[in-house]
Amino acid sequence: MDRRDFIKTALLTLPGLAMAAPWWRWDKKKFLRYIGGTLPIPSLARYRVEGGKKIFDMNIKESTHTFFQGVETKTYGINSSYLGETLLFHPGDDVILRFRNELDEPTTMHGHGMHVPARMDGGPHQVIAPSKVWEARYKVQQSAAMNWYHPHLMGKTAEQVYMGLAGLIYIQDDLPLPKNYGIDDIPLVLQERRFADGQIDYSPSRMDIMRGYRGGELLVNGKVAPTKNIFHRFVRFRILNGSNASMFRIAFENRLPFYIIAGDNSFLERPSIESEVLLSPAERVEIVVDLSQFEEQRLKLVETQSSRTILDLNIFSNLQPNIEAIPQNLIHFEQMESPLFTRRFELGMRRMRLTINGKTMDMSRIDERVPLGRPEIWEVVNPTRMEHNFHIHATHFRLIERNGSEENLRPHERCYKDTVYLAPGDRVKFYVKMVDFADAKNPYMYHCHFLEHEDNGMMGQFVVI
Ligand code: C2O
Ligand code: CU
Ligand code: CU
Repeated sequence: MDRRDFIKTALLTLPGLAMAAPWWRWDKKKFLRYIGGTLPIPSLARYRVEGGKKIFDMNIKESTHTFFQGVETKTYGINSSYLGETLLFHPGDDVILRFRNELDEPTTMHGHGMHVPARMDGGPHQVIAPSKVWEARYKVQQSAAMNWYHPHLMGKTAEQVYMGLAGLIYIQDDLPLPKNYGIDDIPLVLQERRFADGQIDYSPSRMDIMRGYRGGELLVNGKVAPTKNIFHRFVRFRILNGSNASMFRIAFENRLPFYIIAGDNSFLERPSIESEVLLSPAERVEIVVDLSQFEEQRLKLVETQSSRTILDLNIFSNLQPNIEAIPQNLIHFEQMESPLFTRRFELGMRRMRLTINGKTMDMSRIDERVPLGRPEIWEVVNPTRMEHNFHIHATHFRLIERNGSEENLRPHERCYKDTVYLAPGDRVKFYVKMVDFADAKNPYMYHCHFLEHEDNGMMGQFVVI
């Protein structure tokens, strides 16, 4: 330990000192004091079993949540005052999700990353009117991953998500990895939120729509810079960029290497040792870190571009050996077949609206008809000067190259994915094959997951035939 580290450690272990910094922030109208403290863990949604099916009752409602001392902030949540309860599934489960809309406005509830029939997808066509119930019924037939659910109402997705509507879906694995939910398997939903007078402020200007609505506080499961006590040697973090349009570059403050084990929809073939990861909106990454060298210390997970704390780990002594080692073989990918067809998607802008292949979203137009079982390459290009990403519903793809080379793929992109980031000028190619659920009538969506872009036209529809 060098001298600087020694002083830092000494300071941090002085009781109270680390806690003493109050979260005073300048809010548009007055000083507000953030409630700091322990990382909230979304509770696991309860279910009942009927006829072999797991039935979850999910109530989408208005609520209030305490982000600041003495201030009630109006929010939306699902069985919760902010965000939603976590759905824990196992491959093969038969589930019924009963979404009851207790809001004063229509909504929908989409399973992002779920491989389900289009009618069960919860996209813009499956509107839930106020006080009505919509059921997503399906069999979980995909491999382990962390997905999420959120509204997808045409033109209103961004605002409803911003108010708090988003929850996690765990599809549990059976590998020897940390999986004590909230203890050594820790979900982190990262979101930026602006506040005005203690209330969530969703008021995008024209510029905000072009750039995506960014800025404000960095919330982690609904809290600013929370702390987490750690009792286990290996800790798994499942991280979702749940922001409307913010990019997050995530690392430990001391650049401690960690293992990336999974991306959006699957494990990586083998863990990849990295010291940071860049996540665009809706992307997920799972990392495992060995904390045995940090007993009785504190360690911060940070957003490096803004130097903000994501999570302040308080690591105890005598860490429990929860797993022996990180498994080296995580998944075996199927061989890609030689692609028979290429589709091209060009992201663009026209008269202050955002487009894909020159078109803005039209719910009554089917843009692409994709045959079942045909291996295809989809090429997405971003000739704009803005950042975007590209998401497909219900289907998982494998990236082949970025800007002409496989080498440009990032570690967390070497797996099955549903969302891929495109910096200005980027061009990506991925391999995709529709494997189930042909339905010529009910479309799936593809879109930019910067939600202001999606809401302003950057979306299209495809059917599987
Ligand atoms: Cu996260 Cu169209 O969805
Ligand atoms: Cu989706
Ligand atoms: Cu975009």
